[in-house]
Amino acid sequence: MEDLNGGVLSLIESARRAAEVIIEHINSKSRISVFSHIDADGISAAGIMGMALSRAGAKFRIRIERWFDEKIADEIASERDSLPILTDMGSGYIEILNRSMEGRDLIILDHHQPSGEPDESFVHVNPEIFGIDGARDISGAGVAYLTAKAISERNIDLAYLAVIGALGDMQDKYENRSLGGVNNLIVEDAVKSGYLKTETDILLFGRETRPIHKALAFTTTPFIPGISGEEDKCLAFLTKLGIKLKENDKWRALRDLSQEEKRKIFSGISDLLISQGYEPKVASSLIGTVYILVKEEPWTPLRDAREFALLLNATGRMGRPGLGVAICMGDRGKCLEEARQTLEDYRKKINENLRWLDEHKDRLEELDGIYVLHGGERIDEKMISAISTILSTNLPNTKKPIIAYSTVPEEGLIKISARTTEDLTEKGFNLGEIMRVSAEKFSGKGGGHDIAAGAQIPIETKDEFLRFVNDLVMKELKKIESRD
Ligand code: C5P
Ligand code: C5P
Ligand code: ZN
Repeated sequence: MEDLNGGVLSLIESARRAAEVIIEHINSKSRISVFSHIDADGISAAGIMGMALSRAGAKFRIRIERWFDEKIADEIASERDSLPILTDMGSGYIEILNRSMEGRDLIILDHHQPSGEPDESFVHVNPEIFGIDGARDISGAGVAYLTAKAISERNIDLAYLAVIGALGDMQDKYENRSLGGVNNLIVEDAVKSGYLKTETDILLFGRETRPIHKALAFTTTPFIPGISGEEDKCLAFLTKLGIKLKENDKWRALRDLSQEEKRKIFSGISDLLISQGYEPKVASSLIGTVYILVKEEPWTPLRDAREFALLLNATGRMGRPGLGVAICMGDRGKCLEEARQTLEDYRKKINENLRWLDEHKDRLEELDGIYVLHGGERIDEKMISAISTILSTNLPNTKKPIIAYSTVPEEGLIKISARTTEDLTEKGFNLGEIMRVSAEKFSGKGGGHDIAAGAQIPIETKDEFLRFVNDLVMKELKKIESRD
């Protein structure tokens, strides 16, 4: 790790402090409780911590949560004799933790925009404190990995899990859709430990496992109208291009195709996108860096790190995060079988939601400053994050963020998943801040990253909240325009 700048060194130093506290607690035989976030990044972060703690002989348990709130804060505080470790969450809710955990040991390993000064008894490891971009340069799993490596050098073999976490959080924002910043150091560790290799190729989902038409239909970043989610149309499209779909009666996957065949598919999709008015850069985002996990069996969804991340997201969002954590901790038996089924169910659910939205276009409303997706009770709160991400790649006006919401009536709240584009964040637009300020105004909770953020607010404040967000976004956009 030569050429490390000051920020990275400080981040590693703060991970080392977290490791020291963890080791002290292990030595004094206290229990450790890991609380992590329900998405791919959070689950891989939990897997990394689980492995590091298990190797160190710790007594521990892992809990996966939808979001951070007072209930979780109280639960953490009620466990008097254990050390809580929060991964991929916590930094945005320091004040709540200060109140519930004042004067007690607490480890926060996160990459969300921090809000508030932590109590001095906490160890808060977060790239943003050191001027490192938490939305692009390191994920929650990355921060957990730095800490695991500080616990023991042998944990270098967990680096690949942090690569999966970063891809799950869509941090592949560097040239050729690669990971950069601190993630690059983690990629180096994963390669060095013999778990990872990278290649440049066409990026279709399920390159290892799926018949090509399914891999095409599964590809939703970017969203390709007439292809994404449309298996039948994909079959017709490939047949027209003259691609042989089967070999000896067996469906061929992308990995079986020749360069020439892949070139044909790419230019076919390019033509399709350009004929629909998309800029060439949308098609070129289909070519990029593939992260191959060389110790995983070919033909499994674990071989391609992006697919691995999707599988973890599926386990979390379908209410089976324990399967995802088990797989990260090395289980390849029955858990993997069940997780594969869960991935299928998740895919079906996403496609079903997209089809429904296509038939109910009025659910997407365009205001002066934002798009609002009224998911209501029709789109499950667990699916709104994925739906918001997918739609955000396919909006007519890339200068407007999308604010998607689902209603959770039994809890009296709405769950918001907001996304914007690099076009705006490059100019200093910060969606995480907008979500935080707007949610707090209506007694809710919000935060996240500049490009992807979320909130939970009381149901009855929904309309006012959306108006407030729209106004705040307009104000921010005006500020940006006047600077241009
Ligand atoms: O909580 P966490 O940081 O792990 O989650 C970030 C979320 O933001 C992920 O669900 C990721 O897919 C989403 N994201 C996105 N578009 C981006 C960057 C992140 O939808 N450009
Ligand atoms: O849930 P979703 O994937 O849309 O969240 C986008 C990002 O915003 C994630 O990184 C999530 O952890 C974060 N978030 C947050 N506070 C909330 C809701 C979401 O920091 N109340
Ligand atoms: Zn994350």
